[in-house]
Amino acid sequence: MIPSASWNSPPKMLRLPSNSVHVWRASLEVSVSHLQALKDTLAADECARAERFYFQEHRERFIAGRGLLRNILSRYLDREPGQLRFSYNSYGKPALIEETGVEGLRFNLSHSHDMALYAVTRGREIGVDIERFRPDVEAEKLAERFFSPREAAVLRTLPERLRPEGFFNCWTRKEAYIKAEGEGMAIPLSSFDVSLTPGEPAALLRSQKDPREVSRWSMQALDPKPGYAAALAVKGHDWELKCWQWSPM
Ligand SMILES: CC(C)(COP(=O)(O)OP(=O)(O)OC[C@H]1O[C@@H](n2cnc3c(N)ncnc32)[C@H](O)[C@@H]1OP(=O)(O)O)[C@@H](O)C(=O)NCCC(=O)NCCS
Repeated sequence: MIPSASWNSPPKMLRLPSNSVHVWRASLEVSVSHLQALKDTLAADECARAERFYFQEHRERFIAGRGLLRNILSRYLDREPGQLRFSYNSYGKPALIEETGVEGLRFNLSHSHDMALYAVTRGREIGVDIERFRPDVEAEKLAERFFSPREAAVLRTLPERLRPEGFFNCWTRKEAYIKAEGEGMAIPLSSFDVSLTPGEPAALLRSQKDPREVSRWSMQALDPKPGYAAALAVKGHDWELKCWQWSPM
């Protein structure tokens, strides 16, 4: 687990060696003037998507989330935030069309309530997920529906006080993995197992699709802020993690 205290300010000169993974933590609660500045960097399709949100709060969080994504990626690339262009695979996973400045740059993002996480690396697939922790979650009911039989069984064996944490460990790790794979809900959630017992390392434990998947992927639990659970899934094992706290440059 990467604790919430180890999210540092990034250096002015950011470097992204091929064996590194950077995860950025950012608040989506931004001032009116900052929100406008972020909105000014969005592409027409992103502005159109923002307009489709019914609630202002959701619209503003989407704008902040995308604006911050552009801001973060531009720190690695030889481009202004507004110049970046995204493509999407058929399941909606965004990618950069051109990676001017850093070869093979890959990223993924996740937001929950007022928090966002951005994972950035090179030449390997990556997925991240953050969820606001709800202690009153109907863990067993949701586990029966969304988790694999093994995961649901492990959750049932946990003492009741540890079940919410076990539940969110499992949820964020499953989401991070399917987001890294990029195929969204086309990957059946019962077709793979992740670890979930509090205190045990995050890991992919089984894949029905291909048993070799287990050794191909690594996972890391993150603690971005009290009240949130988060996880990262990264292809390969030869990487080092750095966690950055976003702030304006
Ligand atoms: C869309 C999905 C990829 C993530 O959804 P989510 O957890 O609600 O949302 P997150 O905030 O974590 O991620 C959303 C971001 O992921 C990215 N994304 C979209 N589709 C993606 C995909 N197929 N793969 C990876 N990333 C994707 C986008 O950047 C999106 O943010 P933006 O469009 O606002 O910029 C997909 O996993 C999903 O529909 N999940 C349903 C939730 C569920 O039932 N989970 C059960 C887990 S046990």
